[in-house]
Amino acid sequence: MHLIAATVLTLTLVSICAANVINAPVSQAKNPIWRTGNVPRQLRPFKPNLRPLRQKSKHPILPIRKPEQAPTKRRFYERPKKPQHKFYEWPAQYLRQDNEQPVRDYRVTATARDIQLTNFYDILYHGPISIGTPEQSFNVTFNTASPRTWVPSVHSIPDYNNSKFKTYNNKTSSTYIPNGFGFEASYGEGKVAGYLSQDNINIAGLTARNQIFGEAIVESDIFEDTTNHGVLGLGLSDEEPTVFDNMVERGLLPAPVFSFYLNRLNSNDPDSVLTLGGTNPAYYVGDFTFADVTVPDSWQFKMDRIQFSNGTGIFNGWGCQAVVDSSTPLIIGPKEEVDVLNRKLGGTPLSGDETMYELDCSEVDGLPDVEFIVNGKKLSMSSKDYVVKMHVGTDSLCYSGILGSSWKQNESPVWILGMSFMRVYYTQFDKGNKRIGFAKAITFEHAILNK
Ligand SMILES: *[C@@H]1O[C@H](CO)[C@@H](O)[C@H](O)[C@H]1NC(C)=O
Ligand SMILES: *[C@@H]1O[C@H](CO)[C@@H](O)[C@H](O)[C@H]1NC(C)=O
Ligand SMILES: *[C@@H]1O[C@H](CO)[C@@H](O)[C@H](O)[C@H]1NC(C)=O
Ligand SMILES: *[C@@H]1O[C@H](CO)[C@@H](O)[C@H](O)[C@H]1NC(C)=O
Repeated sequence: MHLIAATVLTLTLVSICAANVINAPVSQAKNPIWRTGNVPRQLRPFKPNLRPLRQKSKHPILPIRKPEQAPTKRRFYERPKKPQHKFYEWPAQYLRQDNEQPVRDYRVTATARDIQLTNFYDILYHGPISIGTPEQSFNVTFNTASPRTWVPSVHSIPDYNNSKFKTYNNKTSSTYIPNGFGFEASYGEGKVAGYLSQDNINIAGLTARNQIFGEAIVESDIFEDTTNHGVLGLGLSDEEPTVFDNMVERGLLPAPVFSFYLNRLNSNDPDSVLTLGGTNPAYYVGDFTFADVTVPDSWQFKMDRIQFSNGTGIFNGWGCQAVVDSSTPLIIGPKEEVDVLNRKLGGTPLSGDETMYELDCSEVDGLPDVEFIVNGKKLSMSSKDYVVKMHVGTDSLCYSGILGSSWKQNESPVWILGMSFMRVYYTQFDKGNKRIGFAKAITFEHAILNK
């Protein structure tokens, strides 16, 4: 089952790449750097005295995900229990060590910053950050599903210490501060582990000083198909200050808000943009629909229901909790509901697979919109947005981009609204007001009209 889903998704990636791009970076990304599986056991990095995080990290950050594996990770969605142990002992000097007082009256001086993101085949968007003094540059995924930031460490397996790959070297940074604690993060498909360090992290000219982040020394192969070097965590956390929290605390941002505009591959859409400190009206039209965040440690909110634009197919089971996840490519929902939805769309499950549904390409244009009802407002996606079309040679194959996952009701089922949703809806994450806002993202047509 897993194999089929994974194969098809891999195929998706490969065929999209092959169809559209010469010199697609897929092969160069095949480098074994991310494949600890290839390293003989005796050469594998040691497992230092890692004190693992209380809870493992959150969502997968890549699409080739086995949704059936998700239940073991679902604790993320539960209301957090009081931590038994505090694995992090945030140094007292954290955020203050440089004797710099935050500017409380920051609305006067700070401005929001745009960070241009690169669209990697519609399955990942990465953007530049730098760490340390002098700056060491990385391209990272900005992940709303986890607070953890990490980059590969120069102290990791031998392959990493190779000029071809981006690694962080604490030795050459004058602002590095040892931390001494370990970290571990799981992403559906794989795992990274290493130790925590502190250094300045710079994004678009804004510096989160003395930021704690992970130096990864062990990784599984989750990044093998990407040009991505690491992850910058924008998840909600009540325990662990993120880079964003750090910037807010220092008064570097005009508001405790960040927003994403994700473009569509091979369109005339403007470049994708993450805005730190507000929203950028150049990238959306109309008003925002807001939903309050429903748990303290996840960008989770309540959807009223899901329906088709022709009036049928209403799903409101389990209260429709949903998360907006900038690191999941498609939309994932509880298996039973997704099964009903996809069958009504005329979908047939891939043989032996209850998570992916094939659609008849000749019929997808006629399919109704899928409407997510949030705070009484319709957020709709047309079949163009929710169907995944692949070209294999001269054939086209169509799949529903709404995948099922076998979460159980008592495992806090949620819908994951990933990149395909965020391409249609410009999304603001408003930490100050603990709410998420959606507005219609501009498309090329809008961009033209505004000129
Ligand atoms: C990050 O990605 C951009 C766009 O693909 C590329 O131009 C840049 O060189 C990359 N930066 C690093 C540090 O690899
Ligand atoms: C990385 O490799 C260089 C030379 O190839 C060596 O001088 C350096 O000590 C190595 N760094 C680590 C952390 O192993
Ligand atoms: C860099 O990190 C490693 C591993 O934690 C540590 O052994 C080393 O002392 C650090 N380097 C410096 C210059 O502190
Ligand atoms: C509405 O659309 C769904 C999905 O295509 C279909 O199954 C259903 O029959 C349609 N209902 C009506 C009343 O047209």
